[in-house]
Amino acid sequence: MEDKSAQRLLPKHLALIMDGNGRWAKLRGLERSAGHRAGAENVYTIVSECCRLGIGYLTLYAFSSENWNRPKAEIQVLFSLLTDFLKRFLPTLQEQNIRLNALGDLEGLPLPQRAALNHVMHVTAQNSTMVLNLAINYGARQEIVRAVQAIIQEGLSASEITEGVLAAHLYTHGQPDPDLVIRTSGEQRLSNYLLYQSAYSEFYFTPTFWPDFGVAELHAALDDFATRNRRFGKTPEQISATREF
Ligand code: IPE
Ligand code: IPE
Ligand code: MG
Repeated sequence: MEDKSAQRLLPKHLALIMDGNGRWAKLRGLERSAGHRAGAENVYTIVSECCRLGIGYLTLYAFSSENWNRPKAEIQVLFSLLTDFLKRFLPTLQEQNIRLNALGDLEGLPLPQRAALNHVMHVTAQNSTMVLNLAINYGARQEIVRAVQAIIQEGLSASEITEGVLAAHLYTHGQPDPDLVIRTSGEQRLSNYLLYQSAYSEFYFTPTFWPDFGVAELHAALDDFATRNRRFGKTPEQISATREF
């Protein structure tokens, strides 16, 4: 495939909401579990392409704090896919020099999933081409509450609490904020994802269901991102002046 990445502005941090597995399956007369399997396959494709392009941080929403409200059998399918994924993907992570990092309440996960995540995080800890954040048992409101609790426990006074201090207590500490958030499946909401970190993110919504969101559509989203004017509160004139000098 033609590599346009050299010319266009890429996000340093790309965050994805991988939605629509169930509807993808339903459309084909399949069980929701088949949609989750197809969705997991697509993760391999997208992670590898992001790494190849030189995106430094990729965050994937794999299981939200609210996904516990789903039927028990579906949750089991998702968790068994997670351990399969980690096992199968580990050689690729090593080969492509990708570091795995989990965002979320790992204590709340079943032991096999927690152990598998901890293992893969441990053995990929020195990898440096890309950080792959897996948001699992993750909710942004819970993340913020947890950060506030930790800050209070550390005994910081009100005047010592800054945006930087709060950011340093989030799961994404030390990482740049997402420049672009992509959500598949036509839904246009955040569903408790990266609320603090996405304050100045660009958003890209596509009706495509996650299992069908391939490399070509990833490139379409990245092309679109490259045309956005990020102003961070400034006027368009101020932005063009900084570009000129
Ligand atoms: C995304 O697909 C996967 C997870 C939320 C774990 P869904 O399972 O939400 O699929 P839809 O939205 O019902 O189609
Ligand atoms: C968001 O998708 C969570 C993940 C993609 C893991 P959902 O399908 O759970 O979101 P809602 O419930 O439709 O907002
Ligand atoms: Mg959904």
